[in-house]
Amino acid sequence: MKQRDQWGTRLGFILAAVGSAIGMGNIWRFPYMVYENGGGAFLIPYFVAVFTAGIPLLILEFGVGQRHAGATPVTFRSLNKRWGWIGWWQLLVCFVIASYYVVIIAWSFSYFTLSFNLGWGEDTSAFFFKEYLHLSDGPFSMGGIQWQILAPLAMVWLTCWGVLICGVKKGIETANKFFMPALFVMVILIMARAVTMPGAVDGLSWLFKPDFSALGNIKVWAAAFGQVFFSLSIGFGIMITYSSYLSGESDINNNAFMTAFINCGFSMLAGIMIFSVLGYMAAQKGVPIQDVVSSGVGLAFVTIPQAINFMPGASFIGVLFFLSLLFAGVSSMISICEACIAGILEGFKISRKAATTLFCGLGFVVSLVYATGAGLYVLDIVDHFINTYAVLLGGLIEVVLLSWFFDLESIREHVNRTSDFLVGQWWSFCLKFFTTFVVAYMMVMKCVGDITTPYEGYPSSALGAYGWAVVAVLPVLAIVLSKCDLLGRKE
Ligand code: ALA
Repeated sequence: MKQRDQWGTRLGFILAAVGSAIGMGNIWRFPYMVYENGGGAFLIPYFVAVFTAGIPLLILEFGVGQRHAGATPVTFRSLNKRWGWIGWWQLLVCFVIASYYVVIIAWSFSYFTLSFNLGWGEDTSAFFFKEYLHLSDGPFSMGGIQWQILAPLAMVWLTCWGVLICGVKKGIETANKFFMPALFVMVILIMARAVTMPGAVDGLSWLFKPDFSALGNIKVWAAAFGQVFFSLSIGFGIMITYSSYLSGESDINNNAFMTAFINCGFSMLAGIMIFSVLGYMAAQKGVPIQDVVSSGVGLAFVTIPQAINFMPGASFIGVLFFLSLLFAGVSSMISICEACIAGILEGFKISRKAATTLFCGLGFVVSLVYATGAGLYVLDIVDHFINTYAVLLGGLIEVVLLSWFFDLESIREHVNRTSDFLVGQWWSFCLKFFTTFVVAYMMVMKCVGDITTPYEGYPSSALGAYGWAVVAVLPVLAIVLSKCDLLGRKE
């Protein structure tokens, strides 16, 4: 039998795990979340979520991944013969995430090329929505493929294919050894420049000014847990797959703490970078910061380009910013794809080359939906539903099964056997009680919210088709795949 791939070095694994964790979630979601959910006070629920759910789950995923040395279908099947479908479900969730995540990376690539001559012009909003996206009238008015998105989209898929086909050590590890240090250097450079500009301090004081009354709001806590799950790439199979390439002697606990701390540290850097830039722009325009702040797509492709226009050395800062977004995105995208590719090649006993080509080819075709005029609407809806009813629910089911219907203590013994410092009973307690109940409660609240108030005011037909239907079809497909795979068959 062919030897299973393994990381070349411990550093290689940590960089890859950090590369997966650090992504769009850190650069455009975290700063706005802090701002919107109580400023500095948000850091309390955020760190509570990191210590009680993020790190315990990371240790759990690293532990089971390393112990069972397989992608998610193999791992869940090894834990219990009837759980194989959960592995396939997590893999399908990754497929859906990959299909839209890649499009945001493609936009970043276009904006990277535009930064050289500030090609987004003065009216960055009109440029992004009208000229670049050709945004249609609504989620069902597709408006045809946008060629200016298709070209970078194809390039990003090709890059991922090129890295993934080379395997774990030669491909993923080498790519992350380049992407991660480069990303940190670029973000630190932008931050160092931004904090010295007039108005930056006001931006930062807005970001971190604590509003402790926010701590009484359940939404703030839900936002913190949601952010930690997505940002640490937990609950959708990635960390299980990455740790399945660890050797039997690898230190699990330390690796998990390091991954989480580096990820949080980077989020802080990103927050400081974004809010210094916004503070500077507000000062230049002579408006309060709340008039310029925005989140997500609007922040990265409308507000930041506008702020860059005001800055000295604008093109250079633009190139650095969009290259950072590109590197952060591609390293996460590689991990999302790998979780699927590993599952396919093990589940159907085909070569890495065949699995990678099949996955990237299919992914490219599906991602074309987001390259149409309605792409942004579809992306927004799918992202919202997948984050809540697939990532969070996936994490919840994983925790419930492993802590209530499995011998969690055996996993604790396993991770402690090879680790420098040991995790005590607190780890099991956090997973079994705290994470389980907090995440379950959040899920129910979010579900009630989605039923009573249509997300972002989209028509219910669109929410039904792109949201509820997508999340509902995934477990069904997962069961079908678990019945068709070859995992139970002898070699
Ligand atoms: N963890 C990745 C991110 O934050 C998926 O974007």
